[in-house]
Amino acid sequence: MPKIVVVGSINMDLVVLTPRYPGLGETLTGERFANFAGGKGANQAVAAARLGADVTLIGCVGNDAFGRELSARLLAEKVDTTWIDIADDVATGVAVITVAGHDNAIVVVPGANHRLRPEHVAAAERVIRDADVVLSQLEVPMDTVLAAARMARKYDKPFILNPAPAQPLDTELLDCLTLITPNEFELARSLGREQADLAELLTRLPGRVIMTRGVDGASYCDAAGQLRHQPSFKVDAVDSTGAGDTFNAALATFWHLGIGEAARRACAASALSVTRLGAQGGMPTLAELDQFLASRS
Ligand code: RIB
Ligand code: NA
Repeated sequence: MPKIVVVGSINMDLVVLTPRYPGLGETLTGERFANFAGGKGANQAVAAARLGADVTLIGCVGNDAFGRELSARLLAEKVDTTWIDIADDVATGVAVITVAGHDNAIVVVPGANHRLRPEHVAAAERVIRDADVVLSQLEVPMDTVLAAARMARKYDKPFILNPAPAQPLDTELLDCLTLITPNEFELARSLGREQADLAELLTRLPGRVIMTRGVDGASYCDAAGQLRHQPSFKVDAVDSTGAGDTFNAALATFWHLGIGEAARRACAASALSVTRLGAQGGMPTLAELDQFLASRS
């Protein structure tokens, strides 16, 4: 099974279910509240581990109850937590998530995630040297992500970047990455634009872009430079939080199969992930994914 190193965030998701969003100044009675393990880095790590990858997460939590609980849950998912640091003077990251119908709105307070420094990546050089794929997102500081990208390049490892949450990327990071996985909005922001221009990104990074389009699947360039489209798999959606993370984890896990097959499995895995509440709720195991794909072909 592939060895995947994820450099990224760890959050406790505080999830509120409500029939609709409150207006400004309005108080609304919600339907349900629950804590779920989350954070894009941890979600990607867990999704890849369930799909059978051998996963190490480089991250940072606070010295508090959420941090301890999240580390324990990662271990229970068989994610190697050796390189998760504990910061003493800052809280574990949290995301306050309001789910109304099929939509969600999220406020993230990074806390300890912003203490993840390039030095943490340097300390874990050995695991990156031994990895098959390095995967990252943008909920940890940009210089840390860049350090991971440089380290991956040093050892000639594929570096997959999920540019979420959206922000402009510098040229060196774009040059270092093997694959970038924006949605339409992130695509525009990655290039520092108002409007998404897939053609521009495809020209700039030939063969190194896959754009996710929610229920419309994903578009990418194949090895021959041909634009391809992978349709999504229809499911009954409960909560789309973490669907993108599952998509990225599956891409990394199945990267060795080529972008087309990796994209097909990534779309299927992310479809399954939205069928249950919580970012990590519906993330499939390898057996569940295989069964789902067999039932849909
Ligand atoms: O991608 C979903 C994740 O983004 C949630 O788990 C939440 O923690 C936010 O960081
Ligand atoms: Na889910």
